[in-house]
Amino acid sequence: MTSVDLAELWSTFSENECRGYSPLYEKITRAVANNAEVLKFLKISPSDKLHPNLLLAAVHERVLRGLEPELFDIYYNNATSDVGDAFIACVLNSMDDLAPILDTRFVQTNEIGRVSALVPALASLQMQEEATLVDVGTSAGLTLTRDSCFVDYGSLGTYGSKDSSVQIRCDVLHGEPPLMRAPIKKQIGFDRNPIDTRNPDDYRWMQACVWPDTGRTERTNAALDQASHLDVQFVKGDAIADLPNLFERIDGPLVVTTTWALVYAPMDTWELFGQHLAEASRQRPVYWISAEAEGVVTPLPHVPMPSVEGPPGTVIGSVTYENGSVSSAKVLAHAHSHGKWLWWYD
Ligand SMILES: C[S@@+](CC[C@H](N)C(=O)[O-])C[C@H]1O[C@@H](n2cnc3c(N)ncnc32)[C@H](O)[C@@H]1O
Repeated sequence: MTSVDLAELWSTFSENECRGYSPLYEKITRAVANNAEVLKFLKISPSDKLHPNLLLAAVHERVLRGLEPELFDIYYNNATSDVGDAFIACVLNSMDDLAPILDTRFVQTNEIGRVSALVPALASLQMQEEATLVDVGTSAGLTLTRDSCFVDYGSLGTYGSKDSSVQIRCDVLHGEPPLMRAPIKKQIGFDRNPIDTRNPDDYRWMQACVWPDTGRTERTNAALDQASHLDVQFVKGDAIADLPNLFERIDGPLVVTTTWALVYAPMDTWELFGQHLAEASRQRPVYWISAEAEGVVTPLPHVPMPSVEGPPGTVIGSVTYENGSVSSAKVLAHAHSHGKWLWWYD
């Protein structure tokens, strides 16, 4: 990727993902887009490591480790110094420390708020038997704790226990999402790099992946603590190369979830992912519930995104495979990528 493409990537990210949601990261990403030295440093990374979230998290991790007091004051104490300048200075002064982190870490933002879309999406499945759920790209498995969370859908109702340490508020802007518990008997978290929330370095990396000024820090910490008591099996593997092996070892109906995960796999493998699910459906029905960007889940029809202020929403899809092929593919909803709102299609 050339410096021009990289500058474009950062400035598009600033406008599309940060504006209207994270003023801090909007300023930082704009500053990076305009800084030739930082872009040159980033160019040493392989192309799958160029996602802005990776550098943002790597610097945030330094902040959380107490290594960047100026940025800490801006991120957490409302200090008003120029965050763009402070971020650039941090990167240029710590390139030797940052390079190995960019090399070895992945964007693994695990967003518990996505449970607000997953709950009705799973409830909408008409399953005759209890199923095994495989969450592909699970990170630390936070969304697998959905039954321990409390989700408040305003006048449409609630899900889970009010006493939960993880409280999620979701504005339903359209429709009436179903809020029953889905019949899931077993859950498996699958990732190329599963995160162990009991490991302090992994725990801090999860915190670092959260954008500091979006009000999600406390909720993420509570979700990480909740996940450390989770009774799920974690399996390490690649979503394209290794999933068929896992599916062969599972009997009965299969629910596969991907939430902001497949989009990180190369674009030319998205179709193949669906083919793996189709293949697995020769033995039993396979249900794929997805929360991905438009175009990632290839069997889904295009449904125009509702016009809601802020960054573009996520497509919540439901694709069913039976006897080796797609038997239905439906866009269930559009949702805020961190679960703040839901536009449900009845
Ligand atoms: C942005 S995180 C999303 C985590 C979680 N699904 C959520 O919604 O909060 C993307 C996750 O997908 C995983 N991932 C990306 N590509 C993958 C692949 N090819 N195979 C397995 N996991 C992958 C990453 O390791 C990371 O944990």
